[in-house]
Amino acid sequence: MNRCGIFDSGIGGLSVAKEILKSRLFDEIIYFGDTARVPYGNKNESTIIRYSLEALEFLKNFDIDFLVVACNSASSVAIEDLRREASFPVVGVIEAGVKALDGEKKDSNILLVGTRRTIASNKYQTLLHEKGFKNIISIPTPLFVPLVEEGITEGKIVDEVFNLYFGNINKDKIDIIILGCTHYPFLEKSFKKHFKNAKLIHSGQAIVSMLKNDFSITEKENSSIKLFASDNPEELRKKAEIWLG
Ligand code: DGL
Repeated sequence: MNRCGIFDSGIGGLSVAKEILKSRLFDEIIYFGDTARVPYGNKNESTIIRYSLEALEFLKNFDIDFLVVACNSASSVAIEDLRREASFPVVGVIEAGVKALDGEKKDSNILLVGTRRTIASNKYQTLLHEKGFKNIISIPTPLFVPLVEEGITEGKIVDEVFNLYFGNINKDKIDIIILGCTHYPFLEKSFKKHFKNAKLIHSGQAIVSMLKNDFSITEKENSSIKLFASDNPEELRKKAEIWLG
């Protein structure tokens, strides 16, 4: 049996799990949401590294062969530590997200949104500059995380938060938006409403392409998912029923 561990601070990683599950890349997915300690994105680096290593220890109990870090905040600061402690491949959403821009015009106007930690880490920006992309606006948008955790993904409150964060930029000029937080794909409709011309880069789809192309992982006959949470697992299950369908 081929098993993949996936973790996030909460329900955001379900957007990644959904894509991996849909592509049937593993016989079984073990998902861990650290719902007792969400959000990660406002915490300091050493705390996020500690939480990530604890998530890895938990997932090791299930004999996983692969780890997907479905949290940009953890991918921005903890990936090297996780790789040191794991005897199997560990992939993060940031490398995958940047790779998803291969083939895009280097003068594209890119908007990068993510948690405070992800934006402050400069991980995305450095990798994008290395690839020759120059026009990058990066904005921390932490309020989107509790909104998604609450299931509020459209409407007046969300529009207000969009105006708060993006009121000063020319939205029509943005060509590509990197959804640098795995909670944000749940806000896809709202992003499309506010940024009519932008292509959205989604961590889940980016990871699936990376797993297929770089790790030659192929489709299995069946794929299932087991969900675990550090607090309120019932709530995670209910959200997963909605988000995973
Ligand atoms: N979903 C996470 C990310 O991709 C973290 C959100 C949070 O816990 O702040 O960054």
